[in-house]
Amino acid sequence: RTVLEWLREDARCTGTKEGCAEGDCGACTVAVGELDAQGGLSLQPVNACIRLLPTLDGKALFTVEDVAGEGGALHPVQQALVDGHGSQCGFCTPGFVMSLWAGYERHRAAGTVPTRQQLADDLSGNLCRCTGYRAILDAAQRAFERPAPPFDRAAVAAALRGLRVSPSLHYAPGGGAPVFHAPRTLGEFAALREARPQARVLAGGTDLGLWVTKQLRDPGELIHIGEVAELGRVELQPGCIVIGAAASLESAWQALVQEWPALRDLWLRFAAPPLRA
Ligand code: FES
Ligand code: FES
Repeated sequence: RTVLEWLREDARCTGTKEGCAEGDCGACTVAVGELDAQGGLSLQPVNACIRLLPTLDGKALFTVEDVAGEGGALHPVQQALVDGHGSQCGFCTPGFVMSLWAGYERHRAAGTVPTRQQLADDLSGNLCRCTGYRAILDAAQRAFERPAPPFDRAAVAAALRGLRVSPSLHYAPGGGAPVFHAPRTLGEFAALREARPQARVLAGGTDLGLWVTKQLRDPGELIHIGEVAELGRVELQPGCIVIGAAASLESAWQALVQEWPALRDLWLRFAAPPLRA
């Protein structure tokens, strides 16, 4: 089951939209919070349409329903879109809001203000067919001129640390055969791989997600390696870069561009932030 199916059909959080259902349009963008290497909160935009729900075990999920403040006061990115006419039919708008919200909170935490080009890069995974990007980018910039609403990053990070004490996920619906495992160590993964050779290994899942949404296929038993810290590392070593099998494209590109700056343009054109996360 994808995150989007769960959100719309089970949780009835219908603010998140389905457009393409293949990770192209950004209508389904949500933000996923997890702990970074320093134990702080990292927020990434993600395409809910092709992300499998159990991969969110132990993480925080934020949707467009979560970003307004007390009494429904719009978040600065929402208010700026309203004031700047950054929405017409509105179907794409929740996805834009979530990409902008994740970027807004990231920049606020770092004490930085993005350039217009950085905002355009942040929005490269969000398509709009009515409004035109000038109005949306104008609004994105103006959002930073407004007072920042409270967002307790430390409380979210503490809640995420609390979740780490729970055992690794082995999901068996209705007590039947297991369909999803999320080992947390290389040893645990290796033992599972040996014991369940028929299970498919899942990393980012941007291809496998389409089997589910486009071919209506059951992907079968999965071993998700996204929680195995050793496989998520990207290490610069003398003469080579070691990229773990579960490293995100974004972190791999960062390391590659650090060594070969000429690759930067290719990085920015390869998929989009919600897919590379
Ligand atoms: Fe288009 Fe998810 S619905 S990217
Ligand atoms: Fe209609 Fe963006 S406002 S698609």
